[in-house]
Amino acid sequence: MDNIRKHFSALAQDEIVYLDSAATTLKPDVLIQSINDYAQCVGSVHRGFGLTVEFEQARSDIAHYFNLKPTEVIFTSGTTASMNIVAFGLEHLIKQGDSILITDSEHHSNFLPWQRLAVRKKAHFAKIKINKNFDIDRESLINQLDNSVKIVVLHLVSNVTGYKQDIKNIVAKIRAKSSAFIVLDIAQGVFDTLDLKEFDCDFYAFSAHKFYGMTGLGFLLGKESSLEQLEPLFLGGKMVDSVNWDSCKLSKLPHRLEAGTPHILGVLGFQRVLQWYKSFDPNSLNQHLRALTQELFDALSKNPAITLISSADAKNIVTFVVDGISSSDIADILEKQGIIVRVGKLCSELLMEKLGHRSVIRVSLAHYNNKDDIQKFINALDLTLELFE
Ligand SMILES: Cc1ncc(COP(=O)(O)O)c(C=O)c1O
Repeated sequence: MDNIRKHFSALAQDEIVYLDSAATTLKPDVLIQSINDYAQCVGSVHRGFGLTVEFEQARSDIAHYFNLKPTEVIFTSGTTASMNIVAFGLEHLIKQGDSILITDSEHHSNFLPWQRLAVRKKAHFAKIKINKNFDIDRESLINQLDNSVKIVVLHLVSNVTGYKQDIKNIVAKIRAKSSAFIVLDIAQGVFDTLDLKEFDCDFYAFSAHKFYGMTGLGFLLGKESSLEQLEPLFLGGKMVDSVNWDSCKLSKLPHRLEAGTPHILGVLGFQRVLQWYKSFDPNSLNQHLRALTQELFDALSKNPAITLISSADAKNIVTFVVDGISSSDIADILEKQGIIVRVGKLCSELLMEKLGHRSVIRVSLAHYNNKDDIQKFINALDLTLELFE
């Protein structure tokens, strides 16, 4: 996949080994070009002269990519914003004694909005059991599904372990027993081409910057019939058909959930990113990442001082700790050698507590990484650990 690496000018100098793509991916040249193009454009969207046609075409292309309708694509500022919009938007349907089911492995952005909703409405906030191998325990989940359950909150791929849930199967089991809303965080799952219609959840959230797009742009995707039930969190321009002194008439989807001027540059850039991404063979992209992740996992497994948290089948994320050495000290020394990894609680304190670690090191890969990156990382890690001997 050296082919794809060439599309990232940031890697041209070979000065850094970037292994923190689960935090944010590097920007491909196609995105940088779209920023330049946009900077020369005149006007806004949905407000007279400007880029409305191009903007709505981008929405259609993005919807098509995920097998959704354009009315099922809401532009937000990120996964965090999307989850807050859904949690706020469903509040009017939740009453005291209702239940929200959620795993303890969610990123804080998909945990705290639901925790607040449960507190505000005096709803039960119940934990979905996750097995030792990080798989959601289907049997106990199904047993929890009584009539009080109104919302089930899940993730596709864990930002800590890289474990991918078999969501289609889990959702089918939930649907067979419950009419609860199903909310899915797909922030770490978008490297795979996702058919969201098949997934059959009500709401999905991800951020463009985790998938070669810009920061400041996110997506709330879902079923039209579910999105329609959300009370808008943000009120303002272009989301109303009419306003009078006492009330207003909200616009139809998608605009009713998009108050204010949107991230036009981000949306047009992401449309180009998708076009570019689709020009590669998805199987080769997948195999490349899988092979690199396996290589990384195998190399780390050889060191008896290392405790791996991720399992061998993890997506592009491998997380570990080193016995007796602080994770942040290791990450600092790696950074001095030009190796960028992530360290800390990874915005997942509950999972970290369950795993019994105060801080972990996360190595996360994207398609621009290569075998050389893995080797440089392993060499740098060996050198670093020698310093502590
Ligand atoms: C699984 C998961 N969910 C949500 C988020 C939050 O994304 P953002 O900060 O872009 O809103 C992240 C970011 O790391 C994530 O990994």
